[in-house]
Amino acid sequence: MQRFRGKVAIVTGAGSGIGLAIARAFASEGAAVVIAEINPATGAVAAATIGTAGGQAIAIPTDVADETQVARMVEATVDRLGQVDILVNNAGVVAHRLLLDLEREVWERQLAVQLTGPFLASRHVARHLITRGATGRIINISSVAALMGRVKGGAHCASKAGLTMLTRVLAMELGAYGITVNAVAPGLVDVPAQRDELNLSGAYKERYLREIPLGRIGEPADIAHTVLFLASDEAAWVSGQLHVVDGGLMAGHLSFQGVHDFTMLQGTGMEGELP
Ligand SMILES: NC(=O)c1ccc[n+]([C@@H]2O[C@H](COP(=O)([O-])OP(=O)(O)OC[C@H]3O[C@@H](n4cnc5c(N)ncnc54)[C@H](O)[C@@H]3O)[C@@H](O)[C@H]2O)c1
Repeated sequence: MQRFRGKVAIVTGAGSGIGLAIARAFASEGAAVVIAEINPATGAVAAATIGTAGGQAIAIPTDVADETQVARMVEATVDRLGQVDILVNNAGVVAHRLLLDLEREVWERQLAVQLTGPFLASRHVARHLITRGATGRIINISSVAALMGRVKGGAHCASKAGLTMLTRVLAMELGAYGITVNAVAPGLVDVPAQRDELNLSGAYKERYLREIPLGRIGEPADIAHTVLFLASDEAAWVSGQLHVVDGGLMAGHLSFQGVHDFTMLQGTGMEGELP
């Protein structure tokens, strides 16, 4: 299928994990893709891998928290590829600390990357779309952490919850221009960073899997499929929503705190495995 032939998609943080899967999926369906990644090395490899597979991708090193860099990235995309049609705000950083211990700089960086970054990229892309008189799609990668608190995840949860509201307000403000804005909230997805944590304890992983009705951790492609639907013509009347993609985790969620709640190990003899 070539649903995105003639379209240009920017994916932030597409050097690895979920963003890379999204970029690959867009390219495999005909889109020209911009890898807007802070790490120039992984960004270049991602673009080259997509090129080798027959897709079109360019890497533009970008820190999404820096408005000057974001503006330049959008301008460079238009210069090199002619336009922007789709923006996926995916870049993320992880910090596991109790709020009591969290350094202010870490809090601010997390919000800068995961909340301010999507705000900045969205408005630069939206201004381009409006000037061009074109409709478009903005998709924000949120998390189930937007919906449930997580011990040692204060800045992460707060930024993702803020991203949900940013999604709603952008949807309201940009709807008149034919721009849809949605968020996707993944549950636990198997990317290298998460794998390191899950491997801390087999029992821990087992406990987590028991909370997922579909019985498995997500794959990056599970998230990419939903993102591509939201970017497609079929989703033209879908906007302002948070779409949870989590194997059913949230369906019956009552009090389970999530993978980062290491307090569940207390009293099990596995406290030594706490990071
Ligand atoms: N993996 C999961 O279980 C999971 C679950 C829910 C939500 N998410 C979200 O999915 C998104 C992707 O995460 P992932 O799991 O693929 O992790 P990841 O670490 O593999 O990917 C994040 C990417 O963002 C890049 N990045 C970091 N700061 C940046 C910046 N300032 N500007 C541009 N790029 C930057 C990183 O270099 C990296 O390539 C994140 O927003 C994350 O919060 C992940």
